[in-house]
Amino acid sequence: MKKGFFITFEGGEGAGKTSLIDSIKKYLESEKLDYIVTREPGGTKFGENVRELLLNTKDGIKISAKAELCLFLASRSQHIKEVILPSLQKNKIVLCDRYNDSSIAYQGHARGLGIDKVIEFSDFIIEKAIPDLTLYLDIDPKIGLSRVKTSFDRIESEKMEFHQKIRDGFHILVKKFPIRIKIIDATKSREDVLKKAIKNISELIR
Ligand code: TYD
Repeated sequence: MKKGFFITFEGGEGAGKTSLIDSIKKYLESEKLDYIVTREPGGTKFGENVRELLLNTKDGIKISAKAELCLFLASRSQHIKEVILPSLQKNKIVLCDRYNDSSIAYQGHARGLGIDKVIEFSDFIIEKAIPDLTLYLDIDPKIGLSRVKTSFDRIESEKMEFHQKIRDGFHILVKKFPIRIKIIDATKSREDVLKKAIKNISELIR
């Protein structure tokens, strides 16, 4: 039986998920709540290897949209089995930097595989590992990408049109799952974004 809370963080590039998660960690520590932070793709040894395959631009490797989706889902399946479910069973709060909604927005909508197709396919993989809460950080990709300081990875290097589609995909998901997904305006100050995130988290766990 699941006892912990599963919280995922979603957004386009440069939306500020990582720094938000860092601040939430501090909040959970101050509340003496047990948590883990993990990420996708990755989170396990296998998943980190898959991540390297997916994001590496070195050899100009070609990956079809369907192959890309399968790799994200392979990483996710291992992650659920090895990390997410065991942590929830130990009563922990699981904070996950990206999860299934990214597959739906990126591969389903932006790559054109179809939102409903990807939902159907990924349902088979994730089964009951559905987040209790998803915080979606919304930002215009032009602003988001200008915040990405390091060199662009394979997906970040896509055209602006692709990044706009990712945002549209997330907006469709916000409408489709209004109870689970909370939208946060990522152009607001760090303090405002954190305040809103903590409000949503405390409503869930109290
Ligand atoms: P990452 O460096 O973690 O990006 P960010 O810091 O923006 O979270 O790289 C993950 C990339 O993989 C990011 O571009 C989003 C993409 N992605 C998908 O396309 N599908 C997925 O299912 C997941 C989990 C990520």
